[in-house]
Amino acid sequence: MKIIGTGSALPKRIVTNDDLSQIIDTSDEWITERTGIRERRIVSDETTVSLAAEAGRKALENAGVHAENIDLLIVSTFTPDNSLPNTACAVQRILGCRRAVAFEMNAACSGFLFALNTAYAYFSLGVYKKALIIGAETISKVLNWKDRSSCILFGDGAGAVVVEKTEKEDYLFVQYADGANGEVLTCRCHREQNIWNDCQEEKETLWMDGQEVFKFAVRKVPECIRELLNMAQLSAEEINWFLLHQANKRIIQSVAKRLGVKEEKFPMNLEHYGNTSAASIPILLDEWNRQGYFEEKNKAILSGFGAGLTWGAALINF
Ligand code: UT7
Repeated sequence: MKIIGTGSALPKRIVTNDDLSQIIDTSDEWITERTGIRERRIVSDETTVSLAAEAGRKALENAGVHAENIDLLIVSTFTPDNSLPNTACAVQRILGCRRAVAFEMNAACSGFLFALNTAYAYFSLGVYKKALIIGAETISKVLNWKDRSSCILFGDGAGAVVVEKTEKEDYLFVQYADGANGEVLTCRCHREQNIWNDCQEEKETLWMDGQEVFKFAVRKVPECIRELLNMAQLSAEEINWFLLHQANKRIIQSVAKRLGVKEEKFPMNLEHYGNTSAASIPILLDEWNRQGYFEEKNKAILSGFGAGLTWGAALINF
């Protein structure tokens, strides 16, 4: 499986750390030091569907693929605008991917990676040949803007890739879930709300035990990357880029250190967008592609981790 095009879409409105310090007890210094984030994009008139469709349209254009040639369309999100129709079908309608089967997947910050793996599984079975995989989020609508330990971390946006089946075995992945420890990062809105029993205020928003999530990430991400390297019979030095979910600069630095790999091999853009969950890896891929870093014969490892708990890694060849 090969990535043949990328795209991304970000809301117009930029919210800086200083802007946040006007509404909660925080500071640019604290946020920058503890997370690496300086600003994030927050939707005004944009929606999960509009961002997803825009990122998807740009990825199709970049790949030079007509919408009607896509036979699988997956949107990964934990912040859909509506439960039905699913976000992927709404995007299908806008883009005109009429031949595609379209569905939504939720694996939080691992969602884009799991969607990519799903496309690969279909390709391997010979069911589909070209897929549009999108990660899109409007997390700002599920945040508790009074909780300074979580609201400063997240942002809105969407990223997309077009992938194509190849004859070579050039994609490998590992993926995991651990529901038993899922209570460290929850978002009870949407699903639990009902007209008889409106959910409590503290349950309506995203809630996180930041330190537990941090510990989970710095333990599991290097572990699964090592497993992937073993499967591929490659050393970390043979990998050109490690494109990780953009949650926190300190998590990425710690993963690099634990793997014994130079930090320069771990591109980051969280400074500008914060944590955009399922959208973070494809937004980074798009920036990396448009800056000309997708060179022939380059190898990259993608890794996602987050709520569920879920995590995993994939090896792609360019
Ligand atoms: O996709 C996965 C999503 N989740 C994550 O990636 C989260 C992973 N976790 C983290 O990134 C970090 O745990 C946080 C950035 C959330 C928190 O950083 P920390 O270094 O673990 O801080 P802490 O929770 O230990 O808090 C240290 C202090 C506390 O004050 P006291 O008790 O020491 O007086 C907090 O109340 O910092 C305080 N604090 C803040 N201060 C200013 C917490 N949030 C803020 C804030 N501004 N925004």
